[in-house]
Amino acid sequence: MIAFSKRLISVPPSPIRKLVPFAQIAKKQGVKIYHLNIGDPDIKTPQVFIDVLNHWKKNPISYGQSQGEPAFLEALKTYYQHLGYLFVQAKNIQVTSGGSEAISIILFAVCNPQDEVIVFEPYYANYNSYAIINNVKLCAIITHSQNGFHLPSTSEIEKYITKKTRAILICNPNNPTGTVYTKKEINQLVKIAQKHGLFLIADEVYRDFVYDNQKHISLLDYIKQLPKQIIVIDSLSKRYSLCGARLGMIVSLNQKIMDGVLRIAQGRLSAGLIDQTMACQINNIPNNFLSDVKKEYEERRNLLYQGLKQIPNVTLEKPEGAFYCIVNLPVNNAENFCRWLLTDFRLNNQTIMLAPAAGFYQNPILGKKQVRIAYVLNKNDLKQSLQILAKAVTKY
Ligand SMILES: Cc1ncc(COP(=O)(O)O)c(C=O)c1O
Repeated sequence: MIAFSKRLISVPPSPIRKLVPFAQIAKKQGVKIYHLNIGDPDIKTPQVFIDVLNHWKKNPISYGQSQGEPAFLEALKTYYQHLGYLFVQAKNIQVTSGGSEAISIILFAVCNPQDEVIVFEPYYANYNSYAIINNVKLCAIITHSQNGFHLPSTSEIEKYITKKTRAILICNPNNPTGTVYTKKEINQLVKIAQKHGLFLIADEVYRDFVYDNQKHISLLDYIKQLPKQIIVIDSLSKRYSLCGARLGMIVSLNQKIMDGVLRIAQGRLSAGLIDQTMACQINNIPNNFLSDVKKEYEERRNLLYQGLKQIPNVTLEKPEGAFYCIVNLPVNNAENFCRWLLTDFRLNNQTIMLAPAAGFYQNPILGKKQVRIAYVLNKNDLKQSLQILAKAVTKY
């Protein structure tokens, strides 16, 4: 038998998708499943994007430019400038195939093999795959449900900095916890990065979804302070319900990094031409689009939070942003519970699919009693899902 690589085995399955085979069997049996496991928004993509597809003429559909289509880079420059980041020029932007590719490229760009990147667990599980593919070690610092998964003290973080540490990677607002870091926390990280000469990478793909009138503190606000060290990862997937278009960005003022990133980008030729042509309309989206979407997610968050708190022995901190929360369940093994929901439990021939939270932790003993819930379903479906969860928790 021909052997495949050992490192292939080390790539973990996605906790978000690993129960899919059980869901498929249930669906074949005619069971309706409410998908609370994955962050694929149900909100309609802006019509200005769809119109481009409806009027598509270009034939053949060629490659795009490796850095990004010039018209799209210009549109993005305008987009960032409208946000107040007047210093962002096209040369500071690399277009990628989703934020996913952006993170992977950046890990390659800032780390030598076996270098370390600090993350805060629970963290977006796919960071594991990007780290393994790039031969980078993620050093996870634990954060706790009781204080809404906010950051530990500077001295605690500094304990994890070694000679091999190259970067701190945060996700703000956070997937899977819904935490939005305060200005004090961002200041804290900037100071640590400055003191120890580390890259500070912020995955801001949920930047627009911050609730309770809280303000999102972007690392773009600090990038001029640490121009060589701060890198922002961005994506249109969640903001504009554009997950299938696969468009992300790296934003950095470090020209050497951007030059290297472009060389990597040349190797994969280009991001999708159709996707970028569509997204050139980014500045023509009606002004109220994002505020309406945010309002909708905030209402869903409120509904879900109130509903979950009423289920006996189910606990959570109120999520502050993105569209996820980590929920503590009265079960010993949340993965078994999630599987049982798909294989055994039905309420009027319906059930729910959740993501077991253990896969968002590096420490194997953490998250065993937790699930991640994504509130990407409409309010009626969320209400129904809450009823199913309440009954299931009692029955299990
Ligand atoms: C925190 C975070 N970063 C990055 C991504 C990647 O998204 P995409 O590749 O669609 O831009 C996701 C997707 O769920 C995410 O949750």
